[in-house]
Amino acid sequence: MGALDHTPVAVNPLQYLDDKFMGYLAERRRDPQNDILSGLATATYPDGSTPDLIEVVRPATFLFAAGQETVTKLLSSALRVLGDRPEYEKMLREDRSLIKPFLEESLRFDSPTKVDFRLARTTTTIGDVEIKAGTIIMLCLAGANRDPRKFDNPNKFRLGRKNLHDHVAFSRGLHTCAGAPLARVEGRVTMNRLLDRIQDFQISEVSHGSIHNRSYQYDPSFLLRGLSELNIEFTPAP
Ligand code: HEM
Repeated sequence: MGALDHTPVAVNPLQYLDDKFMGYLAERRRDPQNDILSGLATATYPDGSTPDLIEVVRPATFLFAAGQETVTKLLSSALRVLGDRPEYEKMLREDRSLIKPFLEESLRFDSPTKVDFRLARTTTTIGDVEIKAGTIIMLCLAGANRDPRKFDNPNKFRLGRKNLHDHVAFSRGLHTCAGAPLARVEGRVTMNRLLDRIQDFQISEVSHGSIHNRSYQYDPSFLLRGLSELNIEFTPAP
């Protein structure tokens, strides 16, 4: 197990986001609205004092980022499966209630958040590895979701899994994804709308090759799993 490099990066690549949210939150402090940003902007510590703006900027940008790319990745991987397996498109069109399990299997099969981290508060052992107190542990959620001891034939996308909901794509415990219910609703609404509005849905052969020889590019990230692009062809529904 290699040691983690804790050296801060010279330039914060998300500085522009901090700056943007600094502006939004300062505005909400001056003029609160009925929205989440105003809730964050006007929140106080238990002793009644007001946090520095930067303390509120961090959770605000996290919320923004955590909820955006993950769902995009879920939807694109779900659409890829739909395009490669026309029988699923037919099934989902005939029975929209199958969208729910279809998305759960997409979360397991192509987990948008590949890894998660925990700090060991006490010395413990996982399997036969000793973990010293203070160690930061990287948990491979996507790996766990393809564990053959848990999921029968894990590298196959299957709708009828009995333990469909046992995946850990949103992690588990105290810090389990706060946006999981929203992500599931966004997924269901989007899939329903797409099926309503498009027909003859196909993966572009020009971009991704024929159905027997597809080629997909994934973002080179150890944190997230998602297609760099997905080109589809369709006819708008009448
Ligand atoms: C498919 C979409 C999503 C996936 C796969 C996903 C995955 C995750 C994972 C793995 C964690 C870490 C949980 C842990 O450490 O135990 C997390 C945390 C979090 N997610 Fe999501 N997420 C998604 C969508 C969203 C959305 C839509 C929002 C909100 C708009 C959101 C907000 C959060 C927040 C606030 C946390 C931190 C929770 C905490 O530390 O207590 N996520 N998410």
